Amino acid sequence: MSKEVTLETLTNLAKRRGFVFQASEIYNGLAGFWDYGPYGVELVNNLKQQWWRAVVFENREIFGVDGAIIQNPRLWKASGHIAGFSDPMVEDLKNGKRYRADHLAGTDSTDLNVLSELLKDKKSPDGNQLSEPRVFNMMMKTWIGPVENDSSVAYLRPETAGSIFTNFENVRETTRSKLPFGIAQIGKAFRNEISPRDFIFRVRELEQMEMQYFIHPNDQQKQYERWREFAWKFLTERLGISEENMQWHEHEDQERAFYAAAAHDIYFRFPHGFKELWGTHNRTNYDLTCHMQESGKDLTYFDEATRERFTPNVIESSVGVGRMMMAVLTNAYTEEEVNGETRVVLKIAPVIAPVKVAILPLSKKPELMTLSDKVYTNLVRSTGYNIEYDETQSIGKRYRRQDEIGTPYCVTVDFESLNDGCVTVRERDTMQQTRVKINDLESHLKIR
Ligand code: GLY
Repeated sequence: MSKEVTLETLTNLAKRRGFVFQASEIYNGLAGFWDYGPYGVELVNNLKQQWWRAVVFENREIFGVDGAIIQNPRLWKASGHIAGFSDPMVEDLKNGKRYRADHLAGTDSTDLNVLSELLKDKKSPDGNQLSEPRVFNMMMKTWIGPVENDSSVAYLRPETAGSIFTNFENVRETTRSKLPFGIAQIGKAFRNEISPRDFIFRVRELEQMEMQYFIHPNDQQKQYERWREFAWKFLTERLGISEENMQWHEHEDQERAFYAAAAHDIYFRFPHGFKELWGTHNRTNYDLTCHMQESGKDLTYFDEATRERFTPNVIESSVGVGRMMMAVLTNAYTEEEVNGETRVVLKIAPVIAPVKVAILPLSKKPELMTLSDKVYTNLVRSTGYNIEYDETQSIGKRYRRQDEIGTPYCVTVDFESLNDGCVTVRERDTMQQTRVKINDLESHLKIR
């Protein structure tokens, strides 16, 4: 029996089992900021590693970069973020609380006239009168150097895409690439969201995995479809996310980001409903054109074969690490009845599971501990997996703990092991137990 997971269940599990904690929790946290705990950081690293492999290693024409979080502010002027990266908001005229106008109005539209009309007779959630909708810029500001004035203002990047565009020519030249080719980046981005909420879904500090694919304008449709399909397959085939929990959502005109000509999101069935997980956008030649205008540098491309010079178009593939983690946890969360008790188990694809194997000695007798320690050390060294060693509590409690963090294999070392050189391997989903020779342990594990 599996059960639909609520936001509360997910948040509690994440905290109880060390996936996600509130940032600065001992000071009552900070809205929109979260810390990953011991299992969260493993899961997140595995997700990033799988994405990097699928994007950068498995496509010989895609290369990685790792740009600075703070760039010359002219980058964000050129990209349009300083002027256009804004959300419509309303203010409670009595207590000053601010709300996203589109959320209060229950619409995807961000048009101020439309919102004004829809909110005409509405009150704030506290029952007070609302202001007219206004736009609010989401860029996080800071100052560089000792003096805080207009000329020292800089911004924390709102998307990783920015330094991909500014490095277009550097990467093309150093990799001697011809179109089409792509540049990928994983990194933090910051957005001063008005109302961060829904656990790690809408946050102010996020991590993005983005890839910009530079193409000839004639290639737009084909590459757009290719990267949509890539995202779908990555989620279903690599991460084992159920197709029932996914759907396509095409952006309407009013919903699209200011830089995109077409956008399709994969929506995932999060505990709070079907919401955006992974975007594929056609950014046309918007960004390179803007950067050419602002910088005065030539970012056009010369095709030797056709003797044609043009500004490349870009298809963007963009997904948030935190949202991907939340989707994986939601998809994996299962409750089952076992011998009259509820078993909570995270059925995570083994390749991204935070812990791959738990070594569990059945008793604390020295000879058993010595053997268990040897099994642990040898397996860590030969596989490179994150493996846990746990000798505390009853075996039932230890299984339960490993089930809740999604460990695919538990290995118990018992007194018989000292005689027959075998251990018992318990598989997470079936709970089936198999006696395996210690020397054959590695080949028995199906992690891929
Ligand atoms: N680059 C797309 C996004 O930040 O949403």
